[in-house]
Amino acid sequence: MMVKITAARYFIFFVILLGIALTTCTSGNNSSYPDSVKYQQYYVQGGELYKNYCANCHQPDGSGLGRVYPPLNKSDFMEQNFEEVVCLIKFGRSGELWVNGTMYNQPMKSNPSLTELEIAEIATFIYNSWDIKNGIVEVGQVTQALTSCAVR
Ligand code: HEC
Repeated sequence: MMVKITAARYFIFFVILLGIALTTCTSGNNSSYPDSVKYQQYYVQGGELYKNYCANCHQPDGSGLGRVYPPLNKSDFMEQNFEEVVCLIKFGRSGELWVNGTMYNQPMKSNPSLTELEIAEIATFIYNSWDIKNGIVEVGQVTQALTSCAVR
């Protein structure tokens, strides 16, 4: 009798351990992985917004237009200035701007109606479609970046 109870206890203990081990493994699941549902939603939604708000100038393939509209498909500016990119999507930008050693100097208009979620989706799209593969851009990163441009 004693033996049976102990065996049962060991069994329950083992099941609990197994449960803990399994939850620890699965909770490490990172939502920035390209196959996550959230990433897919942001990317697809961002692609639609890109078509409506950005592709006229930067072109559907992100290659830009001559010396007038800078490229997003391979841009050292994008690589180095994530926060400024978020700011210019929302607030526009004017003045000299260097991309891959070429100077651009045309104003880009603001998009005041875009929500932080929409900006996160657009950013997820442009930061994963071409040479840069940054994974999902979270709304929190956009909120953070936007506080940095309000100060300027
Ligand atoms: C009316 C044309 C136009 C539209 C529409 C437009 N842009 Fe721009 N964009 C520009 C111009 C011009 C510049 C350069 C601004 C400067 O010289 O200061 C620029 C600069 C940029 C840059 C930084 C330079 C680079 O190539 O890395 C990024 C990133 C960018 N735009 C992304 C976007 C995104 C995303 C959208 C859509 C939400 C968008 N733009 C919509 C014209 C446009």
